[in-house]
Amino acid sequence: MSKTISGFSKLSKEEKIDWVSKNYFSNVTKGVAVLKQYANQDLKLQQLHDEFIENTISNFYVPYAVAPNFIINEKNYAIPMAIEESSVVAAASLVAKFWSTRGGFKADVISTTKVGQVHFMYSGSFEKLREYFLKIKAKLIESTSSITTNMQKRGGGIAEIELRNKTTDLDNYYQLHVTFETADSMGANFINSCLEAIANSFKKEEIEIVMSILSNYVPDCLVRAEVSCAVSDFFPKNAEFYAKKFVQAVKIANAEPYRAVTHNKGIMNGIDAVVLATGNDFRAVAAGAHAYASRSGSYKSLTNAKIENGRFYFWIEIPLSVGTVGGLTKLHPLAKLSLEILQYPSAKELMQIIAVAGLAQNFAALKALTTTGIQQGHMKMHLNNILNQLEANVSEKRVIIEKFKGKTVSHNAIAEALHVLRTNLS
Ligand code: MEV
Repeated sequence: MSKTISGFSKLSKEEKIDWVSKNYFSNVTKGVAVLKQYANQDLKLQQLHDEFIENTISNFYVPYAVAPNFIINEKNYAIPMAIEESSVVAAASLVAKFWSTRGGFKADVISTTKVGQVHFMYSGSFEKLREYFLKIKAKLIESTSSITTNMQKRGGGIAEIELRNKTTDLDNYYQLHVTFETADSMGANFINSCLEAIANSFKKEEIEIVMSILSNYVPDCLVRAEVSCAVSDFFPKNAEFYAKKFVQAVKIANAEPYRAVTHNKGIMNGIDAVVLATGNDFRAVAAGAHAYASRSGSYKSLTNAKIENGRFYFWIEIPLSVGTVGGLTKLHPLAKLSLEILQYPSAKELMQIIAVAGLAQNFAALKALTTTGIQQGHMKMHLNNILNQLEANVSEKRVIIEKFKGKTVSHNAIAEALHVLRTNLS
């Protein structure tokens, strides 16, 4: 059978599964059974998921969990997280508990504007272009009125349209650089619709519109979260030594991009898990966060730490474009439930919660890295995955977990112990 196909999207789901399985599965019966096993028995719910994208043949589960005991600006939260990495939720929960007895997290939204651009080429005089822009600017805003009316009622809309000359970067390249407030929505569709209406009104013969699209770089949609405590409160023993080592670890991430990328990846473990659980776009958030980490010209840490007057301070500053209305937030039943668990936050409150999740994750990673090393906790959490891979049964799991309490876990050591256990039992 040929592995190329035309009109695949027009096939029924059964036909799609049939084509994929016959072309790619070594064991068709088993492969099809797995796809069916992951399909929801509630047909209406399954249809909802089918229609999120094209060519759906099943669902791909990611565990959905909560990390309780977060205190943010004196309010208590259980934070929903969707993530497959074993240690992330456990780490978040431990850190939440740790800081809950040290004043909790403080968070602040610094700014909320988002950007979209109409990119165009023009080879005439800049003066003439500027004159045209100034003359038509009010009309450009007016052309979006049918789209912006509802947003304006919610306190959002177009904040400004600027003409930007980019010809020093690329011949004949200009932009309309538009800033938006999108209230409680992430606003991607709103921004893109406004931009297309603006481009449509702006275009004329000498102006070649190349594209109109929002930017996922949102340095002015910024949130800050912080924790602090007396240095003496940082650790049960040698508190000052460990607090200094922690600060040193953050300085290394600021000085060394190889480390900064891993350091920020750990932050994104927390950020993405909440972004996903609340039905927001984690690719957009990740792209914007990494661009922000490079804003100085070299890639740096998204967190910072210092010791001042006997106090330890640790904080994050990160751009986060997220929403609590629109998009998947009201469509995906689990995203809706996540917002309920968070007690229906505004977009600003959600920014604060997500920043805290990132800061907490980084705190857990650095605390482990500068004390016991990362593998102890990580492998402890990963133990179940290894046991599942080795197809251990319930009683084998119980024995092995007991045996490895307080010991270093590795795949080989577990396989060996399981082999010994099975040999002794046979
Ligand atoms: C693993 O997912 C994340 C860490 O590597 C982050 C870090 O090194 O800071 C533990």
